[in-house]
Amino acid sequence: MPQSALTLDDVLRLLTEHEEDAARTLNMVPSENATSGLAKLPLLLDPYHRYFFNESGDEARWHFRGAERLRSLETALTVPLLEELGRARYVSTKPLSGLNAMTLALGTLGGEPGSTVATIAPENGGHYATPSVAQRLGLQVEYLRGPDPHSLDLDHAAQVLSRVRPALVYVDQSHCLFPLDVRSLVATVRAASPETVVHVDASHWFGLILAGILPNPLDEGADSFGGSTHKTFPGPQKAVLLTRDPAIEKRIRDTQDYLISSHHFAATISLGIALLEFRDFGGTEYAHAVVANTKEFGRLLTERGLTVVAADRGYSAGHQLWLDTAADGIAPRTAADRLATAGIKVNFLDGLPGFTGQGLRIGLNEPTYHGLSGTDLVELADLFVSAVQNDGPYEELADRTALLRRRPRIGARLDETSPLWRTAVALATNSLRTVPGSGLNSVEAA
Ligand SMILES: Cc1ncc(COP(=O)(O)O)c(C=O)c1O
Repeated sequence: MPQSALTLDDVLRLLTEHEEDAARTLNMVPSENATSGLAKLPLLLDPYHRYFFNESGDEARWHFRGAERLRSLETALTVPLLEELGRARYVSTKPLSGLNAMTLALGTLGGEPGSTVATIAPENGGHYATPSVAQRLGLQVEYLRGPDPHSLDLDHAAQVLSRVRPALVYVDQSHCLFPLDVRSLVATVRAASPETVVHVDASHWFGLILAGILPNPLDEGADSFGGSTHKTFPGPQKAVLLTRDPAIEKRIRDTQDYLISSHHFAATISLGIALLEFRDFGGTEYAHAVVANTKEFGRLLTERGLTVVAADRGYSAGHQLWLDTAADGIAPRTAADRLATAGIKVNFLDGLPGFTGQGLRIGLNEPTYHGLSGTDLVELADLFVSAVQNDGPYEELADRTALLRRRPRIGARLDETSPLWRTAVALATNSLRTVPGSGLNSVEAA
């Protein structure tokens, strides 16, 4: 049997080194974000170990009662905040991540095995996994396509919809600079195939929708929407589904308990805290800053000679920018490696719409969370371009990147004298076994 070569010392060293490194890094992967320490706290506490099933609080339903005292943190915190900010009447907090929410939505709304789901073609930014998840559920897949990476051909959509009469249109923009026009798409669906349900997977757009910057898909006529809570929304790794339609809520409720048992109750509380911070401690300003910073960063990179997609349209309406460094003579993988050496993490990817080879996909959502604005962006653009063009020295570039990290732009702070803080610190440290000479303390045997 293979044995782990790592000791607890090694584990702690790796985690410590990573934290030190992460604190000097700017993460520009658009699918990721940071979240506040306060929102992360539940993940250290007792609810991390608990199931929670009894949303109604029915006395006869406390079969799992470990989180009994905390019921309101889901039912009177996370759920109502999602309903309020997401402009929905019903919410499912069950999905663990965007892909899990996709599985739940397709499993619930995609129809019986053999039914058809229409979704966004990959060259229009559709998520790579949607066809595969649908097919594994026994569903057929048809693509909706468009003349460019940011829009759909609605005449083509009408033809597809009238021909196949899909149970579901699953709108899943993942590589996205500009949101698809959901209102026009819904009108097309209603005319061509009135019984078809429209679900918008807004994983990438979620924070911008909650802040009211991008249109809420329910206001645009979609039957439901949802997605990850950790991309443009600075929350825990989790996902949600929202609707105003009681029939759809019932279908989701009837399905979700068979696809998801533990919905990671602590992460659900974490999401509630992140939503409260978003609403009351600067979320709207943060989301506006993300969009402004993204456009400005596109301009600054272009000014410095990099090829940034969609310059004619202002680069982006959200948090993503796509860079064609191959057109500038630098392989995207090489550019990403150089940027990482300078403390900047970005995606290099195949399959960006409109690209024949790989490209760089970057996001301003996390740098904005860390407080970057104004002249910081000029400094970031200078060192970004220096790194891509191999114009070091890299130690200097990495030091300059580290200097750009500021205090988080949004969120509240837990006082370090609070009992909860002390509990969290104790919990983080008290389960370690003795390792002589390591500085780790033993837990006394009872
Ligand atoms: C539209 C869409 N759906 C699903 C996912 C998967 O989300 P997660 O990584 O949270 O599982 C993504 C991630 O990029 C996405 O863009």
